[in-house]
Amino acid sequence: GKERTLAMIKPDGVSGNYTDEIKRIIVEAGFDIFKEMLTQLDKETASAFYEEHSSRSFFPHLVTYMTSGPVFVMVLDKRNAVSDWRALIGPTDAQKAKISHPHSIRALCGKDSQRNCAHGSDSTSSAEREIKFFFKDVNSGDIASQH
Ligand code: CMP
Repeated sequence: GKERTLAMIKPDGVSGNYTDEIKRIIVEAGFDIFKEMLTQLDKETASAFYEEHSSRSFFPHLVTYMTSGPVFVMVLDKRNAVSDWRALIGPTDAQKAKISHPHSIRALCGKDSQRNCAHGSDSTSSAEREIKFFFKDVNSGDIASQH
């Protein structure tokens, strides 16, 4: 059935003025943008969002990067939203994306394995957690079941 996923345009994507272009790509790919919000993450919020990466060597840099400017957060609705949004953003390393997935969003606006301009939930359970993290009032489950 239909799914929801959490999509985020990271600080480099927002400051690079990619928000409108990325939203156009999202709509053309058949997603509905159910919720959207521009927000500035603080250190505590960014750390909590990326909790699963807290033991990684890149974690302090990730938090600095993610708090360097506003992010644009969206809830996307579509059949297979989780995997289809991941496919659309491309590989984590934007440098590699430019070669292997030249039409991906990370190829469009990312720089490297950290500054990759976009985020997508990696599973339906991550999507549920991440949607609740930003949008407390949203039901992350199968939309068809909510009617
Ligand atoms: P994201 O898909 O949002 O999930 C975790 C983030 O950590 C990732 O995108 C990158 O921004 C960052 N990240 C992942 N791997 C590395 C790495 N090897 N070096 C630096 N940053 C990384």
